[in-house]
Amino acid sequence: MKVLVIGATGLLGSAASAALSERHEVIQASRNGDVRVDLADHESISKMFEAVGKVDAVVACTGVVPFKPLAELTAADFESGVANKVLGQVNLVLLGTPYVNDGGSFTLTTGVLAREPINTGVAASLANGALESFVMAAAAELPRGIRINAVSPSVLEEATGYHEYFLGFPKISSDEVGQAYVKSVDGIQNGRVFSLG
Ligand SMILES: NC(=O)c1ccc[n+]([C@@H]2O[C@H](COP(=O)([O-])OP(=O)(O)OC[C@H]3O[C@@H](n4cnc5c(N)ncnc54)[C@H](OP(=O)(O)O)[C@@H]3O)[C@@H](O)[C@H]2O)c1
Repeated sequence: MKVLVIGATGLLGSAASAALSERHEVIQASRNGDVRVDLADHESISKMFEAVGKVDAVVACTGVVPFKPLAELTAADFESGVANKVLGQVNLVLLGTPYVNDGGSFTLTTGVLAREPINTGVAASLANGALESFVMAAAAELPRGIRINAVSPSVLEEATGYHEYFLGFPKISSDEVGQAYVKSVDGIQNGRVFSLG
């Protein structure tokens, strides 16, 4: 299969790319990658798909959300989290659907904060929850047998800078998270959230 991975140079994107490239042709994209795209910019998403052409699977491993105590979060903070993490991936689906072959798939990335809160994580919880609901509903309406799932991991072993904020949470290996992307791309599941930890 031809698999387009957005955010392929990041922690999750590298894990997804490594696992998927064992069996598939992986095209790596990000703002500074082999294939350039900025998910914050509709035109950039369209240009990426025009350049890459038809693919069998699209995997998004991106999303930035502000982390602050609830009392300090502003409307602008929530808007930035939604614009970046939620709408970046939603627009990828909207603009990318015509470029995904029949029976292909989208895999988005959310995170454990959709189901377990941490201090300062309200905007991230909101973004992850919104994306997971989008996946559930979009699965029923995507055309031509195209599937959509989300990978929703706890903090990664390698993300040591975040470990102090995730005390007591399971730490997920890059192998384990890579296999969740493989399950979504190679499996038959649709509208599912693959929760790790
Ligand atoms: N790390 C964890 O432990 C963990 C756990 C659970 C969930 N998550 C979630 O997983 C997602 C990825 O996290 P990560 O830790 O892998 O991040 P990361 O290491 O910072 O990597 C982010 C990747 O996305 C690309 N990128 C950033 N902004 C982009 C944009 N506007 N358009 C296109 N590409 C963009 C980056 O490359 P360029 O700079 O070249 O664009 C990079 O390849 C986030 O939503 C995060 O909340 C992470």
